[in-house]
Amino acid sequence: MTSPAPETLTRRQLLAGSAALGAAALSSRSRPALADTSAAGLSLGARAAAKGLLFGASFATQELDKPYGAAYAETYKREARMLTSEAEFKLYTLRPDAEKLNFRPADRLLAFARENGHVLHGHTLIWNDAVPGWIKDLAPDDVKLLLDMHIRTILGRYGAEIPTWDIVNEPIAPWDKLPGNLRNGPFYAAYGADYIATSYRLAREVAPAARLYLNEAQTESADDNGEVFRKSFLELLKRLKGEGVPVDGVGFESHLDSKRRYDFPRFAAFVEEIAAMGFEIAISELDINDHAWPADQKTRDRLVAGMYKNFLSAVLPVKAVKRLTLWQIADHSSWMYYDDLAKNPKGSRRPRPLPFDSAFKRKPAWDAIAEALDVMPAR
Ligand code: GLA
Repeated sequence: MTSPAPETLTRRQLLAGSAALGAAALSSRSRPALADTSAAGLSLGARAAAKGLLFGASFATQELDKPYGAAYAETYKREARMLTSEAEFKLYTLRPDAEKLNFRPADRLLAFARENGHVLHGHTLIWNDAVPGWIKDLAPDDVKLLLDMHIRTILGRYGAEIPTWDIVNEPIAPWDKLPGNLRNGPFYAAYGADYIATSYRLAREVAPAARLYLNEAQTESADDNGEVFRKSFLELLKRLKGEGVPVDGVGFESHLDSKRRYDFPRFAAFVEEIAAMGFEIAISELDINDHAWPADQKTRDRLVAGMYKNFLSAVLPVKAVKRLTLWQIADHSSWMYYDDLAKNPKGSRRPRPLPFDSAFKRKPAWDAIAEALDVMPAR
């Protein structure tokens, strides 16, 4: 017997892994009620829920293993009603190599959410960025096979229990200079622009009850970059809508930055325009990079709180916004904090982008978010 060509082998191995491990769909269970109050008043989650808004943050299961893991868990139990997976559903976590599927982190996240009554948001199945290195060795036909199999496997296993999903993440990247300002990467290279429509159509077929979101960054700022992102994203959404592609919702990441210019009412008008096209809306990854503000901690905390307040008081009146998600909840678990730690191991000025500090104490940003939730109109 001749041995199969490497390409065939890869296909078979991928398929074998998929069929064996993906078959066991996870069953739903009833969710316990969450406590509504903290000692000093209503949590952010409870304040949002009172207005019909789902509030939460991204959650990284590996943070549970840190010395502060218990306090991390407690903060999410108290403050958040929903969790977005941080890396648990990313391709490099689920498929560390071509032959293996690793469901452990995702299953752990699901167990935490079930135990504590959190709604989960799945992030993200198909992204041309942050892919595992081995994908770069696949032939275009095998990338197509992978996309198909990945969506079938992951939504086959988790699609009935997790109600909303980012199917495609960050489709726009003007710097790649492709038609429509689409982002380049293995899925684009294999399908062209059709990787997006193909992914949503398949996701709808595999998980008909799931709400399918398209998530995008950098649409918020009042500068050329924000303008290009808004224009390109709007064109893409119009095209998908026109082609009947089943995208139900749009996530605006809202990683805000102290060095950028903003006109939040103008951004809110853009959100309103997208909502008027019939999309559900989420603010999906909100945080504030404070690097351009003074080192003095009190001053920085005040400025961060001010930006939360300005952003939320412009955006939350848009009633189509049904979910508000922060990217992490406490400063030291933020991607910015980890980046800074790697770049400046001895640095003394760490980013403070979130409503809780590294001791899980509330910061002025917490009050700003609470206030914006309290005054926003009910959904
Ligand atoms: C992007 C992605 C997220 C996360 C954040 C922060 O916006 O969508 O998954 O990686 O950046 O790093």
